[in-house]
Amino acid sequence: MSAAAGELPGTVSGGAVRRVLEAEVARARAARPERRPRAVDVGGGSGSWAVPLAVAGCEVTVVDVSPDALASLERRAREAGVHGLVTPVQGDADQLAELVGAGLADLVLGHGLLELVDDPARAAAALAAVAAPGAAVSVLATSRHAAVLRHVLAGRLDEARAVLTDPDGRYGPGDALRRRLDGPALGALLEATGRLRVELVQGDGVLEAWLPNAVRDGGPAAVRDAAELEELAAGVPALQEVAARLHVLARALPTA
Ligand SMILES: C[S@@+](CC[C@H](N)C(=O)[O-])C[C@H]1O[C@@H](n2cnc3c(N)ncnc32)[C@H](O)[C@@H]1O
Repeated sequence: MSAAAGELPGTVSGGAVRRVLEAEVARARAARPERRPRAVDVGGGSGSWAVPLAVAGCEVTVVDVSPDALASLERRAREAGVHGLVTPVQGDADQLAELVGAGLADLVLGHGLLELVDDPARAAAALAAVAAPGAAVSVLATSRHAAVLRHVLAGRLDEARAVLTDPDGRYGPGDALRRRLDGPALGALLEATGRLRVELVQGDGVLEAWLPNAVRDGGPAAVRDAAELEELAAGVPALQEVAARLHVLARALPTA
C-alpha cells in the first residue's frame, strides 16, 4: 500500500484509510501465510485502491458496472506491473456473491459505492456476504455534514439547507449522488446486515474544504505536513463528521 502514496502525488487525504488497509493486508497474510490475501473491490472503478492492494501482494477482484472504468483499471494495473493479480469483473454489486463467490474474501472494499447504488442496505448485505468470517469490510462514503459546510463556504445556502434537511442528504434533482450519510447511519447500515460488527470509524479528507491553496501549492514539504495533520485529525470524533468522506471498517462475524 505504500505505493498508493507514490501513485497519488501531492494528495493530502487517504493516509488514514491506507494505514487501516495495510494493517488488514498484514493481518490476512499472517492468518494465511500459504497464499496471497484475497481482496474484492466493489465499485472499484479505475483501481485507485485495487492497484495499490495488488502492488502490496493481494489478489484483487474488481467488480464494477462500468466497462470504461474497468478498461482504465486494466491499463493502470499493467503499468504498475500487477496485471496478473487484478481480475476485472463487469457487474452490479447486487450480483456480487454470484460473481465472486460467497464468504471467500479476506478484505472487501466498498469505496464510493453506497452513495450511488439503488438500495444501500442490499449493497451492504452483498459486501458482507462475500467476506470470509473474520474478514474486514472497508466502506468509504461521502459525508452529509461535510457537504453542508462545503455549500456554506461557497455561499450556496439553499443547497446547504437541502443537504441538511433532505432525508437522503441530497441538494436537489441535479445531485449526482443518491444519498449522503453520517457516521452513525453508515455504521447502522453495516451492522443491520447481521453479519458485520463495526470496529472503526474515521474521517477521510478532514482538511479538504479548509486547506488554503497556498498550502496545497506550497510544494511537497507543505503537502507532507498537511497529510500528517490530516492523519491525526482523521481519528478525532469531532472532526470526523466534517471530513469529506467517512471511513468505516467492519469485521465479518463468524458464521453460526
Ligand atoms: C465514485 S467511483 C469510486 C471508485 C473507487 N472505488 C474509488 O474509491 O476511487 C464509484 C464507482 O462505482 C461504480 N458503481 C456504481 N454503481 C455500482 C453498482 N451498482 N455496482 C457496481 N459498481 C457500481 C461506478 O461505475 C464507479 O466506478
